[in-house]
Amino acid sequence: MPGIVLVGAQWGDEGKGKATDLLGSRVDYVVKFNGGNNAGHTVVIGDEKYALHLLPSGILTPGVTPVIANGVVVDIEVLFDELTALAARGVDVSRLRISSDAHVITAYHRTLDRVTERFLGKRQIGTTGRGIGPAYADKINRVGIRMQDLFDENILRQKVEGALDQKNHLLVKVYNRRAISVDEIVDDLLTHVERLRPMVVDTSLELNRALDRGDTVLFEGGQATMLDVDHGTYPFVTSSNATSGGAATGSGVAPNRFDRIIAVVKAYTTRVGAGPFPTELLDESGEFLRAAGFEFGTTTGRPRRTGWYDAPIARYAARINGVTDFVLTKLDVLTGLPRIPVCVAYDIDGERVDEVPASQSDFHHAVPIYEELPGWEDDISGVRSFDELPMAAQDYVLAVEELSGARISAIGVGAGREAIVVRRDLLA
Ligand code: GDP
Ligand code: IMO
Ligand code: MG
Repeated sequence: MPGIVLVGAQWGDEGKGKATDLLGSRVDYVVKFNGGNNAGHTVVIGDEKYALHLLPSGILTPGVTPVIANGVVVDIEVLFDELTALAARGVDVSRLRISSDAHVITAYHRTLDRVTERFLGKRQIGTTGRGIGPAYADKINRVGIRMQDLFDENILRQKVEGALDQKNHLLVKVYNRRAISVDEIVDDLLTHVERLRPMVVDTSLELNRALDRGDTVLFEGGQATMLDVDHGTYPFVTSSNATSGGAATGSGVAPNRFDRIIAVVKAYTTRVGAGPFPTELLDESGEFLRAAGFEFGTTTGRPRRTGWYDAPIARYAARINGVTDFVLTKLDVLTGLPRIPVCVAYDIDGERVDEVPASQSDFHHAVPIYEELPGWEDDISGVRSFDELPMAAQDYVLAVEELSGARISAIGVGAGREAIVVRRDLLA
């Protein structure tokens, strides 16, 4: 089972980091293929808690080679801060590989992210402010800076000049900010060159060779299906392909090498930032989920918006990603609720709609149609097999599975590494 893709099914923070960590000891490579340090993955190992932003979660498993592939945008300072902090805690970071084609996030991307958000006013996306959108915009505009450009000062200077030319006009004349100097950016980037040099390689070649040898490669998505720039709730999305197709374009490994596609889905729904969210709860049930699930952003600390499980979204994720297996996380958070509503379809202008609607305006005013399932009282955080779960919890999982378009192969019952019920081996 060599090529495995793992993505988020909802709006992020489903517990992808924990799921990657679960598979970690059985894989040889963990590849981040999209996004950048907008991601926040929390992994809890015993008493230790790690928050990863730019590095793939697999870096925590000894022996795994972590890879930052071409589809990622890299803030080099964040990269080194994260590496240094992990090394100080005894994590072996020496194997890290970075694609020579990965794009670089610079100071002007971060500045533009913040000023454009401010100018959007009420139409704000609520980005993480890390420069992600502007860096991907430059990539698509063909004025981006790639890792390989750092190793040739002349080329780097020319490219930074090209990138800043228009931006400085925009910054000064439209946004009323000071111009950014080419030297400032180039000098800053050049300070990192020697430390970066040994890490920057042709990661597509290395990953394909690894698969040829029979190694197991896990492609770990950042963000999630509903934040995907093509398939998510545009424009309230991130600027990369967070779905399984992005694993191919974002790594240079062809789709026919993927054997399993795992989507991580929370037993309820959360979202950080603006945009439609049909099952959102603005009442005490929403507060309950936020408190019980500790739903505060790993990257920005913002309280996450919370709501009930949305089965049409799970079915959509199953279709867009080609999901073979779901990992259902945070089932323990629902413990103590007398009844648990699950959205099975939407009411849109008086009509029942079973799928995520094609029109974003429809999605904005979709009203969830709920089915209520009985809850359970017993603490399930110590449960390690499906049969030991309270009957109502088993029924909840089976009902959600029936509605969601793919089998649920593992169930999260707590934040810790061991707090999982495995129904089916995810790698077999
Ligand atoms: P990611 O971005 O998808 O990796 O998810 P985050 O790490 O941002 O958010 C998931 C949060 O839920 C983290 O704090 C995890 O430690 C925690 N978590 C993951 N799985 C479970 C679970 O099954 N139960 C509980 N209670 N917490 C979980
Ligand atoms: P993980 O990998 C949740 C959201 C932001 C904002 C939108 C665009 O931890 O699941 P961006 O900075 O990417 O341009 O912001 O996307 N967002 C996330 N929400 N989890 C994430 O990552 C996110 N990464 C970006 O809140 O709404
Ligand atoms: Mg997260």
